[in-house]
Amino acid sequence: MIVFDRIAQKLLFTFDPETAHGMSIAALRCGLPVGARTVRDDRLKLSLCGIAFPNPLGMAAGYDKNAEVPDALLGLGFGFAEVGTVTPLPQAGNPKPRIFRLTEDDAVINRLGFNNEGHEAAEKRLAARQGRGGIVGVNIGANKDSADRVRDYELGVSRFAKYASYLTVNISSPNTPGLRTMQAREQLGELLSRVMSVRAAASAQPPLFLKIAPDLVEAELEDIAAEVSEKQIDGVIVSNTTLSRSGLRSPSGAGETGGLSGKPLFERSTIVLAKMRRLLGPDRAIIGVGGVDSTDAALEKIRAGADLVQLYTGMIYAGPALPGRILAGMVRFADKERLKSLRELRDSRLDQWAAKAL
Ligand code: FNR
Repeated sequence: MIVFDRIAQKLLFTFDPETAHGMSIAALRCGLPVGARTVRDDRLKLSLCGIAFPNPLGMAAGYDKNAEVPDALLGLGFGFAEVGTVTPLPQAGNPKPRIFRLTEDDAVINRLGFNNEGHEAAEKRLAARQGRGGIVGVNIGANKDSADRVRDYELGVSRFAKYASYLTVNISSPNTPGLRTMQAREQLGELLSRVMSVRAAASAQPPLFLKIAPDLVEAELEDIAAEVSEKQIDGVIVSNTTLSRSGLRSPSGAGETGGLSGKPLFERSTIVLAKMRRLLGPDRAIIGVGGVDSTDAALEKIRAGADLVQLYTGMIYAGPALPGRILAGMVRFADKERLKSLRELRDSRLDQWAAKAL
């Protein structure tokens, strides 16, 4: 499998990143790769926000923007898959090229700009898989030209509440001008109360998570945590891509506009995660994402305060066997440390991570 993966990755890397991405979605739609390994072990299971997760590793939003392959992703071993970001109306996104590999850094810069087929197309696909089981979250966003962005999120909640295992309100993409300003306290307060009212009136009430940027200062994190607690949002996803370019080795691409993901994001996103855990207390759900490409990196997110972990860029570099490898490594770790559950690790390095400067 690893040899197959390496050859497939080499081949995919001869194409531009967006074409390669389309080919990987097509391969998953056709049922490839065959024989992906699913790792099942009671020590990886956890119950969070009323959902029984088979393991703590999920596919992050942005890979399956149109909900084409959530079940194939679960078949790769992921304990959950987040589809989207979906906006009410279809939109083309920014001009191409708009995804750039920074191979020396195991990183990617993207400025896609919420290219997606819109609510209706995603709803059709999710309706067709209803009743199949498997944890599928739906990440919702706003159209670039929307006159009322908060309304776009309300539409997302009412449209997808009955199909989604959980909903993610994504206000942290750097590629829709002005979107990240919705993280400011007053705007955030209004957005969160409005989406929570719509959820309360919907036919189903899945947990609702807020996805935040890593490029926030302590005072902004405090404001976000206060609003999340006050409006009783179920959890926070930390984090989206960064605007920072610090410490990059790749000479080419680093100058491109957009959000940086992958290994260089690990440190900052993990510090923000720990600080969020401190601010929110032990009971609010946190999903840690940013630079996870190994068992060690995934476990470190949990030590810093995460309940669940997601990845995307790691799979671009390591291929579809990565989730299985990470989970098998978690099982070996649980054996070695004689853990009854991986949950025992949570917060074990919270102090160290939360003390680091942003
Ligand atoms: C993303 N990400 C993303 N996030 C989101 O909430 N909605 C989206 O539509 C997208 N789109 C997207 C496209 C591409 C090409 C990439 C690389 C990333 C962000 C993603 O979910 C994740 O938060 C970051 O990429 C950090 O995790 P990794 O990639 O370092 O594991």
